[in-house]
Order: sequence, then structure tokens, then C-alpha cells
Amino acid sequence: MTAFSVIQQNALALKLIPIHLRELLYITNVTFDVYAVKDDIYEIVLTAGQTLEKKILKDFITRGIMTLYIEEENRSKLVDIQKENLRAATRSLSIGDSVEKGKRQFALLSINLGHFYEDTASDDSLALLIQSTKNLFQFLYDNPEIHRPLFDEYIKQHHHYIFAQPLISSLFLLGTLKQSHSLGEKEIENLFLTSYFKDVGMSAIPTPKYDSAQLSDQDKILLLKHPTHSVNILAGRLSLRPTYLKIIENHHLFTLLQNKIAPTEDILTGFETMMVSITDVIAAMVSERPYRPSLPVYRSLEYVKLLIADQYPSEFRLLVSYFKQFYSTSK
Ligand SMILES: [Fe+2]
Repeated sequence: MTAFSVIQQNALALKLIPIHLRELLYITNVTFDVYAVKDDIYEIVLTAGQTLEKKILKDFITRGIMTLYIEEENRSKLVDIQKENLRAATRSLSIGDSVEKGKRQFALLSINLGHFYEDTASDDSLALLIQSTKNLFQFLYDNPEIHRPLFDEYIKQHHHYIFAQPLISSLFLLGTLKQSHSLGEKEIENLFLTSYFKDVGMSAIPTPKYDSAQLSDQDKILLLKHPTHSVNILAGRLSLRPTYLKIIENHHLFTLLQNKIAPTEDILTGFETMMVSITDVIAAMVSERPYRPSLPVYRSLEYVKLLIADQYPSEFRLLVSYFKQFYSTSK
């Protein structure tokens, strides 16, 4: 711990920016000083060059220290370290303990997605996310037995729901589509990517604002338009046929209908759009939000029944069968 004078404290306040503790996951060596605030005073809690052992992060969690601070000029170093971590994890995904490897991939993908939201113009970041998501798809497709343990581990990591939601909904989508035997592997991969990237338009609103009790009217409009914004961000960069961008544009099919908001153009109500949309609804309901606890899966299935059982009876049965099996798998 380093003590600073009042003048130094004031200078630090101008230079430091907050990071979430989670952004340090899987970093073995910090290459910059990391600060925490104690009694309104900044103190160095990790020194540049220090080995970052797991127990150090655990100790922060125990002490309730979830927000740390770094100098703004070091933000890009942190982003680069986590990019490299994701690159390395993606290359070695299928080697070693599959649950450990999957858990790391889930975490690093979510951290990097968060960093991408801060700079959606970065082709380098997007290319890395796409490659990592494709490798993750293959890994999950080949190892269905680890979906449940990975889901449980992921929930424990408490990623921000904005970054967790795409991964959980895509995991559910992959599981149900594979079980349906109605689509080929490549088609499921394309839909997995579509589902994972469908919410990047939410980056229009800074993440901390999602935690506030009330979004401003302007932010609410931005939120409502996030599917269109996602398409604007991804167009020409995702190497998927335009059909998939259409699915992204319409992935809030049920929210729009529920709120009786008429979409500007005809909604695609095909099987693929419906499945991307409905697994998103279920993923949201079974996950915790700052304003409500997670809901039991049977509640989400009751709701899904109201939404689709008439129009898509066999798909509804498929979802019930998949989630029964998923939630009965022992932890
Ligand atoms: Fe969305």
C-alpha cells in the first residue's frame, strides 16, 4: 500500500478511471498500477509487474472491492492483455479440462465483448470476437455434456447482464437447435453467431447507465432501436448472409408484439427468427437483473407457451423437452 499526499490524491482523481474487478480475471501479471478507494483515499493495491494470483482477486471480493482504478493511459494496455488472453484461450480451447477451458473462454469472451462495446469501430476486436465465438460454437457443439456445468460456473462469475445475456441465449439456442435435428451444423453455427452478436447495438448506451433505476427517455429510445443499431455496426463485417442480419433486426419480435409496438416493416416469423428470439426471452427470464431476481425456468416456459404454443406447437414441445433435460442435469 502506498500513501499519497492530498495534492497527489487530487492529481490521481483526475487521472484514474474505474474498472471492474472482473476485467482482471485470468491476468497473470499486471503491467500497470491498480488502485482502490478506501475512506475516500486512493491507494495502490496492485503494483505494476506484480503476479496476480487468484487469491488476491478472491480477497478483493471478500472485502467487497469490486471497483478498482487505473490510470486512463493504461486502459489500452488492459484491453490488449485481455485480447491476447482470449486469443490464446481460443487457440487452446479443446486441449485440457473441458469445463475449465470453457469457463475461461466464456469469461474472456464476455470481458472482450465489454471492451468491444467501448469501441465498436475496432475491426481487430470484432475479428477476434468472431473467431473466438466460432471456436466456442464448435467446442460446445462437440461437448453437450458440459453445457450445464459451464452455465453454472458462468452465473457464479456475475458478468454484467448486458454481456452475459448474449452468451446464455446463444447457449440455449445451440442446445435446442441441436436437439431438434432440423438444421445442419453450419446453419446452427451461423445462428449461434447471429444470436451472440445481436445485441451489440446496446453499446449505444454506456453500460453503467443500465444499472440506474430509470433510463432517460432518450436512452429508452436508443434501447428500443438497438437491433437496428446492431445491424449498422455489423453490416459488411460479420461475413453472414443478409438473412442473418434480418434476424438480428427482428430479434425482439416478442417484445415488440407484447408492447404492441408495430414494427416498421414486416417481421420475419420464420423458425430461425422465432428460435433466436424465444431463447433470448428465456435467457433473460432465468437470469438475475439489478431490478429483479432470476425466475424459475417453469415460469419462463409458461410465458413462452402463451407466446408461441398456438403457432409453433412442436417447437414449444422441443423447448420444454430441452429445458427439462438441461435443468435436470446434475450440477
Ligand atoms: Fe436484444
